[in-house]
Amino acid sequence: MARFCRLLGYLLVFIIELHRSLCDQPSTLLCAIDGYDYLNLTTVNWFIDLDQQYCLFKNQTQCTLELAICHTIGNPGLCESSSVCSVSGKEYLSLGAYRENPLGPLVEGFQAVFSDGSQYITDSGFPCLLQTHLAFICSKSTIWESPGSSELRKKAPVPKLVSYNNKTCQLSLTFDYAGACKREMSAIANLSPGTILVVIFFVAVILYFVFGAMINLARGYVGSDVVPHGRFWSMLPIYIFDGFQFVFSCGRLPVTSTYEQI
Ligand SMILES: *[C@@H]1O[C@H](CO)[C@@H](O)[C@H](O)[C@H]1NC(C)=O
Ligand SMILES: *[C@@H]1O[C@H](CO)[C@@H](O)[C@H](O)[C@H]1NC(C)=O
Ligand SMILES: *[C@@H]1O[C@H](CO)[C@@H](O)[C@H](O)[C@H]1NC(C)=O
Repeated sequence: MARFCRLLGYLLVFIIELHRSLCDQPSTLLCAIDGYDYLNLTTVNWFIDLDQQYCLFKNQTQCTLELAICHTIGNPGLCESSSVCSVSGKEYLSLGAYRENPLGPLVEGFQAVFSDGSQYITDSGFPCLLQTHLAFICSKSTIWESPGSSELRKKAPVPKLVSYNNKTCQLSLTFDYAGACKREMSAIANLSPGTILVVIFFVAVILYFVFGAMINLARGYVGSDVVPHGRFWSMLPIYIFDGFQFVFSCGRLPVTSTYEQI
């Protein structure tokens, strides 16, 4: 019994800690943005053909821009560990390093921001690091169809706006994307994981008491005996106190009180 109660103390501390950590800190480790259908963007490497003026190579006519959102390009030799890469023949420039979660909200959609690309020189002769801002604007008709599993890269829809800022060394691309239309969120999708955990816990408790009481009634119990495991629950506050005492003393205090009476 004493071991069980200690366990119960641990469990309670664990649940409280878990709820606190889930509720206080929104999970930023995952690649995700609430309310948008961003998944297709992350499934493959997308590429577009860019005009010479945006290619950033001094001598090339055209280049291909490779986009790897929430993963690295992974092509050996071609800015392998970056997320944005401008490729022309054998030459390439990283236009943005890999980031775990580059996604953020915009007024009419969402964006993906990549910094810390290759070293470059601004127009006024200062060194800079290339960077890329991708904007995805809500447009119901522009599907980015994620390909079958055999394909590794796919041509992206033509961007509706391309610009390069020669002071900040930032390339900006604006795309239409059906997934950038804000989804109507259901009540459940709005709940945080911590809240769902607590709701599940209380539903479980209610089911336990309702079904436990029904079973006890069927057994012919009356009065306070109808409560399932009634004696245990009446002692619970004491168990919890001992559990906490044990946990917070780091197990040093001998658990002397109360259970031995049971
Ligand atoms: C760039 O192009 C010009 C003219 O086409 C040529 O003279 C020059 O050698 C080229 N430079 C490099 C680095 O390829
Ligand atoms: C994602 O790709 C699937 C096909 O794999 C397509 O049916 C769906 O419409 C795409 N979603 C968006 C938002 O482009
Ligand atoms: C740099 O950008 C400014 C403003 O966009 C533009 O006026 C200027 O011509 C650009 N310089 C070059 C060399 O492209």
